[in-house]
Amino acid sequence: MGRGGYVVVTGGAGFIGSHLVDALAAQGYRVGVVDDLSSGSLGNLAQHAGREYFTFVRGDLRRLDRNWIDVFRGAEAVFHYAANPEVRVSVTEPRLHFEENVVATFNVLEACRLLGIPTLVFASTSTVYGDAQVIPTPEDYHPLEPISVYGASKLASENMITAYSKLYGLKALILRYANIIGPRSNHGVVVDFIGKLRENPGRLEILGDGSQRKSYLHVYDAVDATLHLYNHLVEEGWRRKVFNVGSRDWVTVREIADIVVEEMGLSRVEYVYKPATPDGRGWPGDVKQMLLDTGRLESTGWKPRWNSRQAVRRTVQQLLGKQQP
Ligand SMILES: NC(=O)c1ccc[n+]([C@@H]2O[C@H](COP(=O)([O-])OP(=O)(O)OC[C@H]3O[C@@H](n4cnc5c(N)ncnc54)[C@H](O)[C@@H]3O)[C@@H](O)[C@H]2O)c1
Repeated sequence: MGRGGYVVVTGGAGFIGSHLVDALAAQGYRVGVVDDLSSGSLGNLAQHAGREYFTFVRGDLRRLDRNWIDVFRGAEAVFHYAANPEVRVSVTEPRLHFEENVVATFNVLEACRLLGIPTLVFASTSTVYGDAQVIPTPEDYHPLEPISVYGASKLASENMITAYSKLYGLKALILRYANIIGPRSNHGVVVDFIGKLRENPGRLEILGDGSQRKSYLHVYDAVDATLHLYNHLVEEGWRRKVFNVGSRDWVTVREIADIVVEEMGLSRVEYVYKPATPDGRGWPGDVKQMLLDTGRLESTGWKPRWNSRQAVRRTVQQLLGKQQP
């Protein structure tokens, strides 16, 4: 097990998935990627194209197809990162989220069961907690009441994974990520603000009342934590574990706007707030306050390099090309 083994990353052409592929390859793993390129891009994997340790197959996980199942064969673990991650889309297109998140996860589980793959690492999310009454929110917080179809689809997937773990002995590492940001991201608040300010440097439309306060983690930290936990658990012997993966602090949407404006060298930008609900959310299903209790993760000996503000600033600089990705 471990270095030199073969692992699969679903959604490996996406934002987090492609950074995960980079890190796994750097640790000496052979890596197979399955992605339908619906939001990911081959450009994110160009550094691995044609290398002997690397396989890419374009496949849609919503259907159990031989072409992608063959990539799973012989894997010591599947890192399941393929999903539709757009919370806002889940409000208008719930079926899409059900299929891309729940059905796809079920098919991945079936492929693991049929092929005897021992381990699944799952990209879950802070949105499974909904509007948590305890902040920072620990992993054992109850009741889990997601307020978006996206959050519900991830929680349904978590539950399905738990049943496979109990029934079939699958080892499952469920990671509930905070907001992940960094180079190659193509959605979320930082990308949205940069795009809008490039179009109109005098005015910024902010979804919500700007007071939404959430925790952000740079993708390099997110991937580092993921591999730290994976390697740690492989050494320890374990069955099913859930970890929050985030930083210790949070930042408001208004503060993010200020950082983007400052880094773009702009001034006198008019902020125009667009609350979608009476309590100032950016869209229906938007969790207004999110901070994860990361004590369980930190007890394994891992700490983030950057806090939320630093992660935002670093991401803005990287997306603006002011800093090497
Ligand atoms: N970005 C975040 O802040 C964040 C936070 C918590 C959890 N997550 C989770 O992390 C994972 C990666 O998110 P991301 O931000 O990198 O998103 P992303 O859209 O960049 O990556 C998702 C990838 O999955 C692929 N994909 C989608 N549907 C597919 C299908 N049916 N078959 C095969 N491939 C498919 C897409 O083409 C894309 O490459 C997702 O599971 C997401 O829910 C992300």
